[in-house]
Amino acid sequence: MRFSNRVGRISESATMAVTAEAARLKREGVDVVALGAGEPDFPTPNNIKRAGIQAIHDNFTRYTAAGGIPELKEAIVAWHGREFSTNYGPQECIATVGGKHAIFNFLAALVDTDDEVILPVPYWVTFFDVINYYGGKPVAVTPSEANGFSLTVDDVERAITDRTKVLVVNSPNNPSGAVVAQEEFERILELTSSQGIILLSDECYSHFVYNSTPFSIAAAENARKNVVIAGSLSKTFAMTGWRLGYLLGPAALISNVNKLQSHATSNPSSIVQKAAIEALNGPMDAVYAMLEQYRGRREYVVAALDDIPGVRCPQPNGAFYAYPNIGSSFGRGGVSSSMDFAQKLLREAHVAIVPGEAFGTSEHIRLSYAASMEELEEGIRRIRVFITGLP
Ligand SMILES: Cc1ncc(COP(=O)(O)O)c(C=O)c1O
Repeated sequence: MRFSNRVGRISESATMAVTAEAARLKREGVDVVALGAGEPDFPTPNNIKRAGIQAIHDNFTRYTAAGGIPELKEAIVAWHGREFSTNYGPQECIATVGGKHAIFNFLAALVDTDDEVILPVPYWVTFFDVINYYGGKPVAVTPSEANGFSLTVDDVERAITDRTKVLVVNSPNNPSGAVVAQEEFERILELTSSQGIILLSDECYSHFVYNSTPFSIAAAENARKNVVIAGSLSKTFAMTGWRLGYLLGPAALISNVNKLQSHATSNPSSIVQKAAIEALNGPMDAVYAMLEQYRGRREYVVAALDDIPGVRCPQPNGAFYAYPNIGSSFGRGGVSSSMDFAQKLLREAHVAIVPGEAFGTSEHIRLSYAASMEELEEGIRRIRVFITGLP
């Protein structure tokens, strides 16, 4: 079979590949500490589960409008308005099958061959592959590591050319945990809007911030025309398996994405839409309870990693990942890249993490602290023994 050039330009998500390899070892009976996957270890809150079950009992099990039922769009824009002081209307909103789908469709609607998309490093791997899939050019820009990889307006300015169409900002960031401060974010928006560049803000980790309050760039002046928000219920409400995300942005973009969605996936699951309405309209207590758990684990994980000889782990200000630099172990025990490190660590110490190569940096690994304290303690103990034991 001769496959399309398009599909030849992408590879399987590295994070999914690590998860699959760790699962395979576990099935073989190996005691693997899995710190690779980026998903909450908490169950979906009960009120949300009940709403999904009720939707089935009510036979709410048929096709809906491709972009979601009006009640869901109302709930998304109202929640975003309450949380971030924005005032989108339902015509500026579409529900999607998870945040990934929102990003995939946004890029489909905007990116033509050779269009440039500025992608701050380290980046969530899906952005890179999907930009390539559509024939666009990811333009990597690397913010200062000493500044925790937090994007600045100067970084963006350096990367702009007359082919730049989109800037992607993912704050809090997967994998670095970097958070772009509100004033800097507003300066970035001022720059991109003055150049007619669309700013895609991925807010998937919006509520998991440790030294600031959640905010959305969509609340800034100028945002209405020049900003598109990609959001997801996956992490915020511990709903990764349910698959519900959304886009907020100019009505013309939303209607183009709706066109695409009407031919591709049709609607997100009708049952999930009902559960999502409950998540968005219901209490936020469970979200803040998870945040407090993550906060405690983050403190432990960052300090314990930083304490390993040769490891540098800056404080991540958001999300639930640590992104330590392990470059000083290169050249020892046959390790010459973070990919070697990850493979050897999994094979010999039975800890699953994701190598920085997947995110565009060569000397880092990503650990998810969306895992129990026991797993984190055991995982870091093994990493310490592994690193200090490298010949
Ligand atoms: C930065 C970022 N954006 C979006 C997503 C999408 O998540 P989902 O498709 O589960 O909504 C993820 C998931 O890992 C992510 O890390």
